[in-house]
Amino acid sequence: MLPIGPYTLKNRFVLAPMAGVSEMPFRVLAFEQGAALAPTELISAQGLFRISSRTLRYLRYDEKIERPYSLQLFGGEPDVMAKAAVIAKQYGAQIIDINMGCPVKKVTKTGAGSGLLCDSSRAGEIVRQIKAATGLPVTAKIRSGWDANQKNFLQMADVLGAAGVAALAVHPRTRAQGYSGKADWSVIAELKKHVGNAFPIIGNGDVKTVPDAVRMVETTGCDYVMIGRGALGNPWIFRELLGGAKPTNAERMELVLRHFRQHLTFSAEARVHREELPPEQRAAKDELQGVHSFRSHLGWYAHGLHGASVFRAKINHANSKKEVEDALEQFFVGASTDLTAPEGEQELDYRTALG
Ligand SMILES: Cc1cc2nc3c(=O)[nH]c(=O)nc-3n(C[C@H](O)[C@H](O)[C@H](O)COP(=O)(O)O)c2cc1C
Repeated sequence: MLPIGPYTLKNRFVLAPMAGVSEMPFRVLAFEQGAALAPTELISAQGLFRISSRTLRYLRYDEKIERPYSLQLFGGEPDVMAKAAVIAKQYGAQIIDINMGCPVKKVTKTGAGSGLLCDSSRAGEIVRQIKAATGLPVTAKIRSGWDANQKNFLQMADVLGAAGVAALAVHPRTRAQGYSGKADWSVIAELKKHVGNAFPIIGNGDVKTVPDAVRMVETTGCDYVMIGRGALGNPWIFRELLGGAKPTNAERMELVLRHFRQHLTFSAEARVHREELPPEQRAAKDELQGVHSFRSHLGWYAHGLHGASVFRAKINHANSKKEVEDALEQFFVGASTDLTAPEGEQELDYRTALG
């Protein structure tokens, strides 16, 4: 397996960066279950200069478990990106990943995200300047192109390769496609054939199961497989990919509970407080917010299990840690697979899908 910069990873499976999902607690679980790499969600280069409590939330990581720590930046100006990467390095980043796939207009109109697909020389300059300023390995994550008429992934690979990119991840849909249709894995195969062993190719898109991942490697020759939606509510996918078993009910319950508690602590520590409150009121507010922001994870964990919709309805009315813990223990302890549940698609708000 080709290393990423100086890092020889323990296997080929990578958690995809997902805004609002791959925060520290979820990344840690993915690593524990076997993921070899789990980049942060996209972090604004401009935001890094202000280091608000919001930005700090994105920067926090577990230095014992998250090794190597890959931090994803977005921005359009090479010098700003380079300065931001220096700050990211000070906060512990060992790999800088550049978002070149975010389809959101607010981002692309500043020339960032998939806007960089329309200006490959600026994309190359970003890689070059970050490398020069930090000495860190720089990776990039692209889509196949802006739209069906401009699928320039091979040209992007040439330019980024010449700039010294340490790995290239590709989500093979165009910016115009958003999340519709199927990921076109032939793009990954073409890319791998084109770059050979010059740097590793990370294939991404629609890997939901172990056979999907095996098929992606076999049919595209990609060096690494990146999994996003397939890991929602299912961090065990990494264990399964390495030959491990599906979780037992006890394991599932233990992990969901642990994730929930870690999420509460994480979100309380990262919360922005606009007003001065007595400690107990502040703690109550933090708890409520953490309970609410964990709902989507609970929905994903329940996906495909008997009684999932009743459980979701209950969780959506829960307003305290105790209520959630009671409900989740009750639900997951005897959970069984619902063979009549609709396959695949997790409930997801694609406005938050930023790559
Ligand atoms: C909720 C969500 C948030 C995402 N946020 C990011 C992000 O911050 N940076 C990024 O490069 N891609 C982001 N993506 C895209 C994923 O990394 C990945 O490319 C995409 O989901 C396709 O892979 P999958 O089929 O395995 O989910 C996001 C996707 C989702 C679903």
